[in-house]
Amino acid sequence: MDYNLQDGGPTINPNADTSAPDRKAPYVQNGTEVLDPARYYDAAFARKEWDRMWTRVWTIAGIVADIPEVGDYIKYDLLHESFIVTRVGEGAEDIKAYYNVCGHRGNQLVMNDLGSVTDGFTCAFHSWRWGINGELQHVTDAASFQPEVLERVPGMAEVHVGIVAGIIFINMDDNPPPLRDFLGVVADHMESFEVDKMHVARHVRTEWAANWKTGIDAFYETYHLHAVHPETQGVMADIDVQYDCYPNGMSRMIVPIGAPSPRVPDQESVNEGLAMMLAEVGIDPVAFEGNAADVQQAIRDKKRENAKTVGLDYDNLADTQLTDSFATGIFPNVQFGMHPEGAFLMRFMPHPTEPERFTYDTMTLVRYVDDPNFSVPGWMGLPEGIDCTGAIRPDIEHKGIGEPPELGLVLDQDSELLPVVQRGIRSRGFAGALWGEQEQRLRHFHNELDRYVDGENSPAIAPRTYTIKQETNN
Ligand code: FES
Ligand SMILES: [Fe+2]
Repeated sequence: MDYNLQDGGPTINPNADTSAPDRKAPYVQNGTEVLDPARYYDAAFARKEWDRMWTRVWTIAGIVADIPEVGDYIKYDLLHESFIVTRVGEGAEDIKAYYNVCGHRGNQLVMNDLGSVTDGFTCAFHSWRWGINGELQHVTDAASFQPEVLERVPGMAEVHVGIVAGIIFINMDDNPPPLRDFLGVVADHMESFEVDKMHVARHVRTEWAANWKTGIDAFYETYHLHAVHPETQGVMADIDVQYDCYPNGMSRMIVPIGAPSPRVPDQESVNEGLAMMLAEVGIDPVAFEGNAADVQQAIRDKKRENAKTVGLDYDNLADTQLTDSFATGIFPNVQFGMHPEGAFLMRFMPHPTEPERFTYDTMTLVRYVDDPNFSVPGWMGLPEGIDCTGAIRPDIEHKGIGEPPELGLVLDQDSELLPVVQRGIRSRGFAGALWGEQEQRLRHFHNELDRYVDGENSPAIAPRTYTIKQETNN
């Protein structure tokens, strides 16, 4: 095969202008070092990740659409820590986040994944009540306390909140960088897909027997598709993927969908998968006169036309956004697969105590349109009969260790594979991963993680140094 090592692989849209969401980023030279695999199982490494990275970085705590009313809250757990993210007013930014803990004796204040309070948070231990603004409102039998004791009561401890494209981030650091600076161009990409107009139609949380980074690594490349997900080969051009690495550990891959893999011998016929994709947008595959290479453009054109009939405007979207998968890595632990019709927000949440376990948390977001011609595309994989109108926020479906996520064949395949990879990584016979350029996002992610974990590059003081080989498309 040919591979453009100089540019770090293919460019999807060579004509993309500077602000286009599909513009290829300049190649980032992240070196060729082999990293010690202990990072995937060593408790001391996990501890450093907590002390030096998780406690200082922005992470995604929830979705604005999940807390529309004042008093609505999300419980967000990150390792052993827990937070309450709650709406305190009607304004777009009126959202606060607190440690989920009662200042009396430390009981956790909320237990439900999502909920709503009308009169603050009442602790289940001794009924102290804290307002949604964080102030202490009620002390049971206050007269039984020496006054000096109650003078020490602080408000609920607050953490920083940032919102981009309807996604809520929090940061425990006293002095975090502005969220927008941290995200960089990724924030623009999220906005271009109008993620803020979507809501959660399904939310699955499942336990996997692997390190959270083993999970990230598997989702950050398409190099494994031919081996693990061969059924994708007819419709995903797994080698023609554009990999983009951005500052602060952010990354992205654009995977062409609606085109066969270059690994498939037949590049001409409209195969079964492509025929299904045509049919999905309302093109009769039997009457379709083009060959495989014409399918993507036909789908894009038809999607623009269809959008108009339900009152949507796709004029601001690039052609590639209408077909391809824009799988975006939001450092440290998210892969956000965005499409105009909806998005898949996957969070890789470390286990509080076991480095070889993580929670795979995935929300399926839908851009619902109230129009008789509207239907949610089948490729989003939502079960029959699920409410997609946004009227009901579904409960989180919790699944135990080893249970398949039941989010479609591809994810079930990954869930079977990862524990096996994890065991291999631990082997005395394994010396560390050998990453190719189809895996450049992995190296980029791990290098950024090391900037935190090694301590010498505190996010507050570190100059970001990237060796940029070549600027493309000037
Ligand atoms: S721990 Fe909350 S009221 Fe006592
Ligand atoms: Fe996979």
